[in-house]
Amino acid sequence: MEHKTEKSILIKYKEYEGINNLPEEDRALVDMAVKAASESSYAPYSGFHVGAAVLMENGKVVCGSNQENASYPCGLCAERTALFYAHSKYPKSSVSAIAIAAVSDGNVVSFPVYPCGACRQALLESQHRKGSPIRIIMHGSEKTQIVNGVESLLPFSFKLGQ
Ligand code: THU
Repeated sequence: MEHKTEKSILIKYKEYEGINNLPEEDRALVDMAVKAASESSYAPYSGFHVGAAVLMENGKVVCGSNQENASYPCGLCAERTALFYAHSKYPKSSVSAIAIAAVSDGNVVSFPVYPCGACRQALLESQHRKGSPIRIIMHGSEKTQIVNGVESLLPFSFKLGQ
């Protein structure tokens, strides 16, 4: 008798071709992420300008961008810049959605920008604070993908006391 089972995890996501096909609220959030990437990113080392726009449950939007450093590990991704700023500014509210986009060589990149592992862990903390799924909008000029819930990006996640 075998003492193993094979299991699988299903990840559901929505995919839209082109920004004009996105629901209006998501499009507005993506536009703000692109604006942050274009106007406030500091990325002299990679040339990859990332922006994130966080929609809070109180209706406010907080934007952030990647901030690099000559000592590379000191830099911070756009997602965590925006998330930490949002929680600092509105500690009693919670995060409903985040849009992520990037600009390279003056153009919005064509592929969806996925958050790195550390940002997924930070997003998970925001989701725990909220107690319900956060909508994550990962934008590219050719296609935009949306997941509802951080577990779709981080299925086996670390929790204290497990
Ligand atoms: N970066 C982000 O801001 N967000 C991500 O999800 C991935 C990577 C930044 C870090 C660095 O400044 C640049 O993109 C290139 O890795």
